[in-house]
Amino acid sequence: MATFTLPKNSTIEKGQTFTAPAGSTNVRAFKIYRWDPDTEANPRTDTFELDLDKCGPMVLDALIQIKNDVDQTLTFRRSCREGICGSCAMNIDGLNTLACLKPIEDVKGEVRINPLPHMPVVKDLVPDLSQIYAQLRSIEPWLKSETPPPPDAERRQSKDERAKLDGMWECILCFCCSTACPSYWWNGDRYLGPAVLLQAYRWIADSRDEATGERLDNLEDPFRLYRCHTIMNCTRTCPKGLNPAEAIGKIKQLMVERQG
Ligand code: SF4
Ligand code: SF4
Ligand code: FES
Repeated sequence: MATFTLPKNSTIEKGQTFTAPAGSTNVRAFKIYRWDPDTEANPRTDTFELDLDKCGPMVLDALIQIKNDVDQTLTFRRSCREGICGSCAMNIDGLNTLACLKPIEDVKGEVRINPLPHMPVVKDLVPDLSQIYAQLRSIEPWLKSETPPPPDAERRQSKDERAKLDGMWECILCFCCSTACPSYWWNGDRYLGPAVLLQAYRWIADSRDEATGERLDNLEDPFRLYRCHTIMNCTRTCPKGLNPAEAIGKIKQLMVERQG
């Protein structure tokens, strides 16, 4: 599918307002970014009023209700509905998060919903993730080992070795962190960003992996790794409570140690 980037000087068109059904008593407005490659009025913000007494508790419930009952053209990604797949990542009330884990009640007043920032938009709330997936492929996120596994057994780890992966295996690749990172906004074509670097460290830290030197060589670059300036937006926004900034710091530390 073709992708469409928000033009730098574009103004937000006045969007449509869909009012709540008559008799609604607990009305909340959802202001949603729209971008449709098949229309001229781009981008625009549409307002949808819902009766929260007839809606599920999460922002994703509201989006599904709008799509089902009000505007079937509203486009967004979602799959698991429980914070596992990472598909429903978007910017809600100014914060990158998962729509399925974000209670509507946590937002005061109207609920502003935008796609993940600084990414090309395919349609409405769907960003184009081609570049970031190519960056993920570039760090080869799989076990690399010359040593064959023991016959009829898995590769074993001690409890301590396994514990080193905690805080990384939980990453669901939602990319809330990378799209909250100013360095990634400005240099996303060359800087790998926090999500991909967290994955890189996940394999560096794995006791079964034998490609640490090669992996560090692959990151030794003024842009791929060193564009992180420890601004910490990534860690603040992660909906899974992970700390990509810490993982990046550990990669940098390994770079120093191997030079010393
Ligand atoms: S700590 Fe690094 S990766 Fe995280 S937001 Fe800041 S610059 Fe980006
Ligand atoms: S570190 Fe957190 S915010 Fe970043 S991709 Fe993983 S789960 Fe999402
Ligand atoms: S729908 Fe899977 S994380 Fe939200």
